[in-house]
Amino acid sequence: MAAQQILVIDEGTTSTRAMLFGADGKLHGSQQEELQQYYPAPGLVEHNAAEIWDKTLRCCKKMIEQAGGAEKIAAIGITNQRETIVAWDKRTGEPLGKAIVWQDRRTASICDELKAKGFEPMVQAKTGLLLDPYFSGSKISWMLKNWPEISTAGDNLAFGTIESYLIYRLTGDHHITDASNASRTMLMALDGDDWDDELLGLFGIPKKALPKIVDCAGDLGRTSVELFGTPIAISGSAGDQQAATIGQACLEVGQTKATFGTGAFILTNSGETPPKSENRLLSTVLFQLNGKRIYALEGSVFVAGSLMQWLRDDIGMLKFAGESEDLARSVDETSGVYLVPALSGLGAPHWQADAKATISGLSFSSTKAHIVRAALEAMAYQCHDLKTAFSADGTDWQSLRIDGGMVANDWLVQDLADILDITVERPEFFETTALGTAMLASVGCGIYASLEEASSMISGLEEHQPNIESSRREARLAGWQKAVQSVLSN
Ligand code: G3P
Repeated sequence: MAAQQILVIDEGTTSTRAMLFGADGKLHGSQQEELQQYYPAPGLVEHNAAEIWDKTLRCCKKMIEQAGGAEKIAAIGITNQRETIVAWDKRTGEPLGKAIVWQDRRTASICDELKAKGFEPMVQAKTGLLLDPYFSGSKISWMLKNWPEISTAGDNLAFGTIESYLIYRLTGDHHITDASNASRTMLMALDGDDWDDELLGLFGIPKKALPKIVDCAGDLGRTSVELFGTPIAISGSAGDQQAATIGQACLEVGQTKATFGTGAFILTNSGETPPKSENRLLSTVLFQLNGKRIYALEGSVFVAGSLMQWLRDDIGMLKFAGESEDLARSVDETSGVYLVPALSGLGAPHWQADAKATISGLSFSSTKAHIVRAALEAMAYQCHDLKTAFSADGTDWQSLRIDGGMVANDWLVQDLADILDITVERPEFFETTALGTAMLASVGCGIYASLEEASSMISGLEEHQPNIESSRREARLAGWQKAVQSVLSN
């Protein structure tokens, strides 16, 4: 059993972690390091990929030591913040400049120009995505135009999302990306095995600089011997939201999860046919196994946990994130205060890259508690906007499985059930992103034959039922709609 431990690398937006799981899904250990965020100008967000690699490696080494050595690890699974793009030198693995993070809005004008030229319907039909700076394609295009060290790197140039970069550093030579991450670049058609020539042409990106698209589980390479002594097989890889969907056992069509991390991302399993949204939702690869893809319909909300972090670190309204629950409970309502958290534009279903956040409805009687409660209420409202869009696309949520750091807040969980008016299910073990990655890696290295079998690793769910008068729900939602409309019309 000891040799069946799985090492999961969970490289998120604000931190990188290495976690050790048993084949039964039990967490044996976890090591985490915070990542420096670079905000060179309003709307710009960058990471240092060399720092990500160094910290990831350090966390892995600590976990491998705890496991009793590399030979005790059956496989590595990797999950990552999606869309964030790194350019590196193939000879050294060293980054050629900063990574441009998914939240970065610098390519809004590239996207607007392509929209004005009428390219969005083609892009959406092929990729399931909308022309927004969120995705990697326009970021790569911008890097090639603006950073000479990248445009002059020639045959030594490599691009990849974070999992691709980490796999390159771990193996020393494998330039690959899994299909779930590739589906977020805007450069791969949902039904295409390779990068799409028309999309590459649109963004001016040379194919030879891009990784090979592979399955989410299987033989994805082995770690270089000098890293951990004995090489370890890498056998699982997926974007963090896809991994959380797997870790929430949303393996049947219609099952839906919401993860409240830096942002909030809701995915419904759509099965073998890519969904087509007419309500500005995304169609994405949930996972690819043995060359076969399963798809998901996604609603991406850009700001969730990052709002609480901002209230704590930049505004000083909270001493620690958990204080928000006590503050929300200390008042009966926000007394008309609404906070629309468009701190990096608005994502689904509005897609307004230049939208700005607002706090409205303030008076002298408003207190910190009202504002913090309004910030938490914004989570349920944003999800409700998505519920309406999913429903208009023919996908009604029967229940919603939730996870991510914010769902430790019991008040927030009840508010989600109240506003969404459905059963909300919270797992006993919140780390579903890492667990889903461990499931993929377990399948990839042969511990389990399928994801269905690997779902024995998942713990139980706790149900929360709506408990609010419908007139109050409707009044609150009407106030939110007014607040959002004022942001959209500005
Ligand atoms: O698409 C962006 C998403 O993958 C970021 O995830 O966990 O950092 O909120 P997270």
